Amino acid sequence: MGIVDEDVARVRQAVDFVEVASEHIALKKVGRRWVGLCPFHAEKSPSFSVNQQEGLYFCFGCQAKGDVITFVREVEHLDFVGAVERLASRAGIELRYDDVKEGRDRRRRAVLTEAMEQAVEWYHRRLLTGADAAAARGYLRSRGYDAEAVRAFRLGWAPGDWDSLARALHVPDDVLQDTGLGIVNRLGRQQDAFRARIMFPIFDTGGAPVAFGGRSLPGAEGPKYKNSHESPIYSKSRTLYALNWAKAEVVTSGEVIVCEGYTDVIAFFRSGMPRAVATCGTALTDEHFRMLKNFARRIVLAYDADAAGQAAAERFYEWEQRYEVDLVVAALPSGSDPGEVARQDRAALRTAVEKAQPFLAFRLDRVLGAADLGGPEGRARAAEAGMAVIREHPNEFVRDQYVMDLAGRCRLDPDRLRAGLRRPLPRPGASPPSRMAPAAASGNDRKLCEVEALRLAIHRPEEMAHRLEEVLFTDELHLAAFRALASSETLHHAIKAADPGAAALLQRLAVEEVHDDPDAVLVELVRNTGRRALAALQAESREDPDRALELSATVGWLTLTLMELPAADATSRLVPWLVKWGREER
Ligand code: UTP
Ligand code: MN
Repeated sequence: MGIVDEDVARVRQAVDFVEVASEHIALKKVGRRWVGLCPFHAEKSPSFSVNQQEGLYFCFGCQAKGDVITFVREVEHLDFVGAVERLASRAGIELRYDDVKEGRDRRRRAVLTEAMEQAVEWYHRRLLTGADAAAARGYLRSRGYDAEAVRAFRLGWAPGDWDSLARALHVPDDVLQDTGLGIVNRLGRQQDAFRARIMFPIFDTGGAPVAFGGRSLPGAEGPKYKNSHESPIYSKSRTLYALNWAKAEVVTSGEVIVCEGYTDVIAFFRSGMPRAVATCGTALTDEHFRMLKNFARRIVLAYDADAAGQAAAERFYEWEQRYEVDLVVAALPSGSDPGEVARQDRAALRTAVEKAQPFLAFRLDRVLGAADLGGPEGRARAAEAGMAVIREHPNEFVRDQYVMDLAGRCRLDPDRLRAGLRRPLPRPGASPPSRMAPAAASGNDRKLCEVEALRLAIHRPEEMAHRLEEVLFTDELHLAAFRALASSETLHHAIKAADPGAAALLQRLAVEEVHDDPDAVLVELVRNTGRRALAALQAESREDPDRALELSATVGWLTLTLMELPAADATSRLVPWLVKWGREER
């Protein structure tokens, strides 16, 4: 049974997030935000932040985020309807239910799944028999995929032309688009989304097709994989490739192997371990984890988990503790993936899984492997580095075991090392959110400025939102976030409409402080974009003398007007010009 949207919105409006959250955690006001210890992961310094006005939260430690409804769902383990009901009764709101809507959603999903089913079959046939699929068949054979493997995983071939699938499927435009199978072009014609790619269909746990990963053939242009976008039937953070095929074996063996790639999964199946799954072009999320722990107690990561570093470490330990599972890392040769290992030696893949180590042991080995244990100085440095890794583990008894191990390997007194454990933890993720945080990694002022503009658009919309334009954003994620904001009535709608990356950014910005002056930020954006435009015009001029002549007046005007900044008058002349320029650029 569904609750009518309007009533859900009324409930969200009526309850005070800070009041609700305060029943579970202690919140303290800092500036305009409220902060406290996150209820969703173990932490010692507060990284859970709340924007009271918008009723949104974001945790800088574990990335948990949402609104009052998500919060109640999570802390009280309720489903959506249950959480809304709980909040409604507290706010004295009577709810109306809408069976019609739920029925409609269900029917819609059935229609989309049916179209996906047809597409899987069509691509598959095409790979098996199409004349144009000869190269794809040859490539798969060269990788050791026989007909049996192609059938088992229902691999397919998406032809290279514009609309073969669309013409064969013959579904309405909205079905083509909502499934991610195609688009409708400017002429109103249906067009395929996947072209000249080997297709890996992705199924939900129940075996219904929900998405595709499409791999290009070697030597082709563009990204190696193109993946379906999210849709009413497909959520990346809740989907694991091959879980539909693996689940029986996962349950009986009590072990699941988590890979990064579709081909890695297939390598495990073909090496006699049909209990592998993969994320579909994303990192392992909490939701993935919750799914997996229902199936198995031992979770083997079969990728280079070290690359994800400390941020991943915190989440892994947290998951281990909270869900009482063993999380181990397969002993793959550094830099190689399971697909490659299996190609050389299938037995080696099995050994890698059998010899999987706890995550901390794996991390420690990495650190010590890179160290020079031959001399006293090297051993001392190794001990320092090892301690930094051990400190990340939340359990003191576990930490202690590893300290003794480390002490032995570095020939140091364990007690001396133990003393080092008491030093406060450096926890970048948990430090109070700073305005530098989002782009510090890239060290890029331009991106920082775009982020600040978005933050202002959220917190002081009346001063900022209407002055921003798409052309002022260069970063794709920022642009997506801006588009979502610009096309939605409220922040909540924008978050709902945005794709996951942009939604997460908006959520985070909503709980951060604004610092800068809207005028100054706008000038900076305009200046950056103006310079970009100027560089483009100059490049164009250099290539073609005739064009240079045509452009000279514009180049002159742009140069001079940019020099007038930060004058408000110059800004207001530049913005409309840049908007026009941006449209022509695209
Ligand atoms: P890999 O580059 O390791 O590809 O990316 P792979 O799966 O091992 O494929 P082969 O063996 O080279 O043919 C691992 C995963 O990352 C995602 C895909 O989900 C892929 O399976 N990915 C990779 C993308 O989404 N896009 C890309 O361009 C590349
Ligand atoms: Mn790979």
